[in-house]
Amino acid sequence: MLFKSTPMFDIMKLLFSVLMVLSMLTPGLSSTTTFNVLKYGAVGDGKTNDSPAFLKAWTDVCQSNSDVSQLIIPAARTFLLKPITFAGPCKSKYILIQLSGNIVAPTKSGFSGSHLNTWLGFKSINGLAISGKGTIDGQGSAWWKQPCLGNPIPGTECRPPTALTFNRCYRLQLKGFTSINPPRSHITLTSCKKAIIKNLHLIAPGESPNTDGIDISGSRDIQVLNSFIGTGDDCIAVSAGSSLIKITGITCGPGHGISIGSLGGSGEFDTVEDVHVKNCTLTETLTGVRIKTIKGGGGFARRISFEGIRFVRANNPIIIDQYYCVNGMKCETKDQAIKVSDVTFRGITGTSLMDKVINLNCDQNVGCSNIVFEKVYIASAVPGMKVFSFCHNAHGTASHVKPSLNCLLK
Ligand SMILES: *[C@@H]1O[C@H](CO)[C@@H](O)[C@H](O)[C@H]1NC(C)=O
Repeated sequence: MLFKSTPMFDIMKLLFSVLMVLSMLTPGLSSTTTFNVLKYGAVGDGKTNDSPAFLKAWTDVCQSNSDVSQLIIPAARTFLLKPITFAGPCKSKYILIQLSGNIVAPTKSGFSGSHLNTWLGFKSINGLAISGKGTIDGQGSAWWKQPCLGNPIPGTECRPPTALTFNRCYRLQLKGFTSINPPRSHITLTSCKKAIIKNLHLIAPGESPNTDGIDISGSRDIQVLNSFIGTGDDCIAVSAGSSLIKITGITCGPGHGISIGSLGGSGEFDTVEDVHVKNCTLTETLTGVRIKTIKGGGGFARRISFEGIRFVRANNPIIIDQYYCVNGMKCETKDQAIKVSDVTFRGITGTSLMDKVINLNCDQNVGCSNIVFEKVYIASAVPGMKVFSFCHNAHGTASHVKPSLNCLLK
């Protein structure tokens, strides 16, 4: 023992505990006010449009002067919400949305006339937390099937809404809830700072188009932790203007894996830096972990690491692609490309359904630099199939890599 417990020390410890308990019990030091959507006329039968009641409740939540202002969405009910925006700035320091009940989207026609690309929008709110065991059901299947055929208003129905968008948020916390079947992405963060997202379940069928799990753009200091994401597109996509992004403990699949980009579309100057992906399992995903940039753009993707990644029967486990171009994009032939540098793949294991397990397709002129591989072992999930690595103009170092990465340039 470094310190001997003395009577004086014990008394101080006791005093400290008493003070802690007092500060928790004494009102005034930190005030909490709660607002229940039922008191505002929300019905929660899954049929009545509860948006007006939620908006009325939100006004009071947002205007409350207490330190913590709490919106209660009670359990054992399902609230139908039409497209709605919860807007700040608010007066209270912290806003907690207690999501014990469920929220369901209207049918596709319930969106008509609205040009929103969002179903549930949260804008300019500081200190927002959404927490609880509730489920948010985006009723997306109607949007996934031939979304533009027989469409009377082009540009609305052709662009399905994202389920949850957070814009200009600061100190956001998302915790514990489930999102199923969004028309487009489950969750989008734009222009956010200091967010923690954890213990979520984001679920949609593997064949549902564009149902990204979490899209992060223009945001800084974002943590995504311990969540299950099984969806139809990227489990997590980190795009332009993002930095200090930490992704750990994600179980992904089905889906398209964890992606940085695409960056540089339409010749944009895009930057992404300090993205660290750790302790994730990707099962039967269409791609694994990848960085994709489009030729013609400027900027960089740098200081990116993937560590402790496990692949289970993944397709295309590791990709860096500076020639990314898919159907419908105008694919540039210009010399310019986004710089990709300081990318580490360390402690990666698992199996692949496709033979090209490492694919570093870097630009002829710009190339990729300081690409580091350490202890990366990817085997075939298909008996008898040989796996291999491919590089084009990729520079860096490799140690303990299978299949061997001899193609990496010094
Ligand atoms: C790794 O991720 C799993 C979830 O896939 C989680 O349960 C576990 O606690 C994580 N381990 C560490 C060391 O973070």
